[in-house]
Amino acid sequence: RNIYYFNSINSTNRKAKEIAFGEKEGTVLVAEQQEEGKGRLGRHWISPKGKGIWMSIILKPKVDPMKVAKITLLGAAAVYKALSNMNIKSQIKWPNDVLIDGKKICGILTEMSAELNMINYVIMGIGINVNLDESDIPEELKDKATSIKIIEDKEIDRKELFTNILNEFEKIYKDFIDRDSISEAIDICKANSALIGKDIRIIRGDEVRVGKALDINEEGHLVVEFDGGIVENIYSGEISIRG
Ligand code: BTN
Repeated sequence: RNIYYFNSINSTNRKAKEIAFGEKEGTVLVAEQQEEGKGRLGRHWISPKGKGIWMSIILKPKVDPMKVAKITLLGAAAVYKALSNMNIKSQIKWPNDVLIDGKKICGILTEMSAELNMINYVIMGIGINVNLDESDIPEELKDKATSIKIIEDKEIDRKELFTNILNEFEKIYKDFIDRDSISEAIDICKANSALIGKDIRIIRGDEVRVGKALDINEEGHLVVEFDGGIVENIYSGEISIRG
């Protein structure tokens, strides 16, 4: 495997975008620390030195750009499986978070470059709060975010988790590319969903809608029943659990 290791970097996603054209599919960038880690919606992602897994994978899938949203779900399923291999039980919060005990320990930021319906590259950035201490997590995030160490009450082997993620992702991604199948990943996301059966709020820009999460369909979309009984498939959005 082609793996670039950085002691410190601005953001592995940003660096991955800079080098993506010249690199092979599957190239991985991983850093001990990010100075400007990026989260979704332009948020900052806290990435303290030596305490997490801050990584990006360069992908070059020859598929319709419309299918790229699925890759985030494949990543979340891979993280779930990797944790499960290490006897750590987690839940997937569609479409891009992994939770333990209802709090976020992992976020995925997938970015794409495409033109004329052809994908140039996809960068899948995965951030995992592995060994962060309470003091690393800002007060205002404490009810939403935590680390595996805080919950398990012990240091977690980052290398073991990193290797597990790459192995699990490789299998799941291969199914997607070779067999056009994401059914295993969908099954994992459904069976371990933090949302299915829950009352949720979907936020997209200024628009807020409330409903109940029913399912994740074969396309990887969230099936939601809105108040009034209308059922819709949701493609993206910020989801929060009500109540
Ligand atoms: C989210 O908002 O939940 C997504 C967070 C993604 C963070 C990871 S850490 C490695 C990669 N590089 C970045 O700058 N961001 C992603």
